[in-house]
Parts: sequence; C-alpha cells; structure tokens
Amino acid sequence: MSHAPLSHIYVTHKLPGERIAELGQHCDMACWPGPGLLPRATLRSEVAAAEGLVCLLTDRIDATLIDAAPRLRFVSSVSVGLDHVDLAAATARGIPVGHTPGVLVDATADTAFALLLATARRVAEADAYVRGGHWRPENAWSPDFFLGRDLAGATLGLVGLGAIGQAVARRAAAFGMRVVGWNRSPRDVPGVEPLSLEAVLSASNFVSVHVALTAETRGLLDAERLAQLRRGAILINTARGGIVDEVALAEALASGRLGGAGLDVYEREPLPADSPLLSAPNTVLTPHIGSATALTRQRMADLAAANALAALRGERMPHCANPEVYG
Ligand code: DGY
Repeated sequence: MSHAPLSHIYVTHKLPGERIAELGQHCDMACWPGPGLLPRATLRSEVAAAEGLVCLLTDRIDATLIDAAPRLRFVSSVSVGLDHVDLAAATARGIPVGHTPGVLVDATADTAFALLLATARRVAEADAYVRGGHWRPENAWSPDFFLGRDLAGATLGLVGLGAIGQAVARRAAAFGMRVVGWNRSPRDVPGVEPLSLEAVLSASNFVSVHVALTAETRGLLDAERLAQLRRGAILINTARGGIVDEVALAEALASGRLGGAGLDVYEREPLPADSPLLSAPNTVLTPHIGSATALTRQRMADLAAANALAALRGERMPHCANPEVYG
C-alpha cells in the first residue's frame, strides 16, 4: 500500500510545549538545532523544499525568500507582530500567514508597566548606585535623595488601544492614573479618554506605545511628534523600535527635555554598541523581553503549532493575518 508523502515543514528554532511535537506527527518536520539563531543563508536553502514554515520574529520572510520557496503553502510565526514578514508578497502567492495574538497580552503589558515603574522611580540608576559603592554613611538618606515621579494622579497616554494597550490601561487605573489614548481607528475603551495623537502626547506625563509596526506607523513618533511630548515626560516602548525616531529620542533625553525612557524594542536588534540610547539619562533598556515568560512563550508556540496544523489540513488558520487568501 503506498502512502501520500508527508508535507515537509521547516521550524526555524526549537520551541517549548507539546503542541509543536504533536505537529511533527502530521508532517515531515525539520528544525534548526542551533546553537543561536538560524542564519539567513540556511533559511534560504531550507525553504527551497518546504511546504510550511514555522518561524520567529528574527527570521526575515521577505519577497526574495518567498520567491526562493516555490512549494511554500503557509507561514506560521511565533509572534504577534509581523513586520518581519512581507504580507503583501505572501498574499500575492496565496500563502496564509499565522501569528499569535492574545496570548502575550498580559506578559507584554507587565513589561510595559515594569519599565514605567522603573523609569518613574529610577530603579536601574538606584541599583547601579548601591552596587557601585556610592551609598555611604554620609549620604545614607536625605529628603531629596533619588526623587522620582508619582504615578497616582499622573496622566498615562496610550498610543494604540489594542489588547496590549487596554491591558496597560487596566494596570494604570489600579495605580490611580488618569488614562488618555489614541488609536488609528477610533475606539471606545472603558477608563480611557479618547484624544487625538497630538493631544495624547501633550497631555501625558507618561506615554506608552502599543501600535503594530506597519508602513503607516513607521516613524510615527518622529522628531516633530517627540517635540510635542510634555517637558519631563517619560516614553515607554514595548511595541517595535521602528515606530520611534531613536536619534531624536536620545537627543531629547540628553538635553533633559524628556524625563526618561523605558525601551524593550529598537530599530536594530540587538541594539548597536554605538547607539546614543546607551548613554541617555534615566533610560532603562531591556532586550525585547516583552513576552518572555515561560508560560507565554509556550502559549505562543502552541498557537503557532495550531496555525500550522490547520494549514496542513487545508483548514483556515485560527489566527491568520491575511485572511483574504481564503477568498
Ligand atoms: C511579538 O510576538 O511580536 C513580540 O514582540 C514578542 O515579544
């Protein structure tokens, strides 16, 4: 008895959880064993024979790569953001692209809030002070020692009112903050006062960015918009680096016009050693860890596996970013 050959699926990184292993029972699955991230050249040669691809946000799935994958029938990314995928090129080929919304909302909102608290209360600077041996008997405490900002009564401005922005709004309400927000398509969110983008920037003591990086949002917070921020405001970004002009931000921080920044994402990752952000005052920098909890990463892998399995079976992916491919 002859069997139809199993579809060949390539997975660009080892993933946590059971669902990805279960996926392997339904296809001929190969996985980059590491160490480290899959090199671009290897990805290019591996996709040549692949009918499905399970990838990370570090894998650039552009038109050239899609052209190099003549048999490709689906892409499933272990990420909610899809700025690393040329969606138009995938759609033109009728390739559904899966992603992982929902499961990383709380973890990412927690990271945004951790950065907000850390910058408001100068946590990284204070930690370095103690470790550096600067905390001595002669300056053990004083009324103006390491003064930070109050959250209660302050205004938080949300740029983007999707699920993560809303989760940050709920946290801010518990801290007694007034929350204002802007969304590209106006949205009523309980507890969030809707304002124009300009009004959000000028009204807020803290601004947190929660829009996806697309052609429309690239450079959204450019030098001109950053100049609209209130003097002393603190900017938090856990969305994507390309949304904020990093050079203009570093200048505004260095001049003291902005009071601080908490950043988890950057125009280029890893952050280049010559980035002016590295020497900016009251700036807390984390290495794209927004969704980095064991449970969240497992849920992301599970969802990516579910998207891939549906595609393998010729069904609609539970979370497809270009549903127009289904006609
Ligand atoms: C995503 O999934 O897009 C996040 O940036 C991962 O943290």
